[in-house]
Amino acid sequence: MPTFRSAIVSKLPLVKTTIFTTMGQLAQKHQAINLSQGFPNFEPDPELIALVTEAMNQGFNQYAPMAGLWSLREIIAEKIEALHGQSYDPETEITVTVGATQAIFTIITAFISPMDEVILFKPAYDCYEPAIRLNGGIPVGVQLKKDDFTVDWDEFRAKITPKTKMVVINTPHNPSGTILSKADMIQLQDSLKDTGIIVISDEVYEHIIFDGHEHQSASRFHDLAQRTFVCSSFGKTFHITGWKLGYCVAPAELMKEFRKTHQFNVFSVDHAAQKAMADYLKTPQHYLDLPKFYEQKRNLFVAGLNGSRFTIKPCSGSYFQLLDYSAISEENDMEFAERLVVEHKIASIPLSGFNTEDKTQKLVRFCFAKTTETLEKATAVLRTI
Ligand SMILES: Cc1ncc(COP(=O)(O)O)c(C=O)c1O
Repeated sequence: MPTFRSAIVSKLPLVKTTIFTTMGQLAQKHQAINLSQGFPNFEPDPELIALVTEAMNQGFNQYAPMAGLWSLREIIAEKIEALHGQSYDPETEITVTVGATQAIFTIITAFISPMDEVILFKPAYDCYEPAIRLNGGIPVGVQLKKDDFTVDWDEFRAKITPKTKMVVINTPHNPSGTILSKADMIQLQDSLKDTGIIVISDEVYEHIIFDGHEHQSASRFHDLAQRTFVCSSFGKTFHITGWKLGYCVAPAELMKEFRKTHQFNVFSVDHAAQKAMADYLKTPQHYLDLPKFYEQKRNLFVAGLNGSRFTIKPCSGSYFQLLDYSAISEENDMEFAERLVVEHKIASIPLSGFNTEDKTQKLVRFCFAKTTETLEKATAVLRTI
C-alpha cells in the first residue's frame, strides 16, 4: 500500500525555493544591504494612500466587477490611446488583475494545452516557465546575445514550429535592463505574420525607461497588437508592489477566453485599490515623471561605482543594473553573489537565477529602486571590492 506522501507527484519537480527568497533570507541573516529583490524601499505617494483610505470609507469594500472597476478600465483605455495610439474597448478588451503575475498565469492557462510550445527569451523573469509547465506546455528558450542582450531574430524564427502557440517578450527587460527597439518589434510582428501565435508582452517597467528612449509597447504595432496581451503592473509604476494590482489588454476574442479562466481564478481584484488607482491616474504626471525619477537613481548608482572594479553594463530601462565582476573573481555567479552577502554585506541576484543554466557569465543584478542613502551605502561598499 503506498503511503499518502509517496502518492504525491509534483507537477513542478524541478522548482525549488526561488533565488529571490534564497538571497533575501541570506541578506537578512547577514544583515546585508538588500539590492536583490525588485521592489522599492521607500513609500508610495501619500496621495495614493489617502485615496485608498477614502475609497474604503466610501464603501468600496465588496467584490468589484469581474473585469475590473469601470472607471479604472476607462482611464486605462485613455492612457494607452494617449501614449501609444491604440484604442482598447474597456467593456471587452481590458481586465484588471492581481498584478502582472496573475495576468500572465491566466493567459498561459487559458491558451496553453499539453505539448504546445512557448518561446521565451533567456534570461527571463522567473514566473513564465512554471506557468507553461503546469499547463503541460513546453518552454522553448532563445538565448539573448551574451554581450548586449539583444535578440537574434534569425534564431527566433528558427525556433518557430507548427507546435508554437505563444511567445513571451519583456521590455524593458528584467534582468538585463535592455529595451526592445521599434525595429525589434517590427521583426517580431513580421516573423509572426500568417501564424496563429499569441504574444504575451510583459511591459511592467513601461514607465521606467531612460536616456530619452520611448517605450515601444506591442500595442503600438497594429498587426502585432491583434495577437497580443500587453501586461502592466501598477505595483511597479507607483511603488506599491505589495498591492498586487495590474491589468492586461488584448483584442476582444482573446480577452473573452482570458476572462473565462480569470473569473474562476480570482474572479475579481481589490475594489478599494482599484477605486484609488482610477482617481490617481487622472493626473498623468504621476507616471510621466517616472523615467526622470528612476534615471536619477540609476545615475546615482552608476556614478557611485566610479573607480570600482566592476564593469557596468548599459541599462536603458527597468530598475535593475547588471554588473560584470570578471575583473574581480573567477567564481561562478552564485558563489560570487553569496560571498558578496557573507563578506561584504550586499545582496544581489546572480544572473543564472533567471532560468539560464550558464553560471559562468560573471554577472550579478542589483536593484536600484532604493533611497539615496541606501544606494550611497551600497556603492561605498562595492567600490572597495
Ligand atoms: C518582468 C516582470 N514581470 C512581472 C513581474 C510581476 O509583476 P507584479 O508584481 O505586478 O505581479 C515582475 C516583478 O518583478 C517582473 O520583473
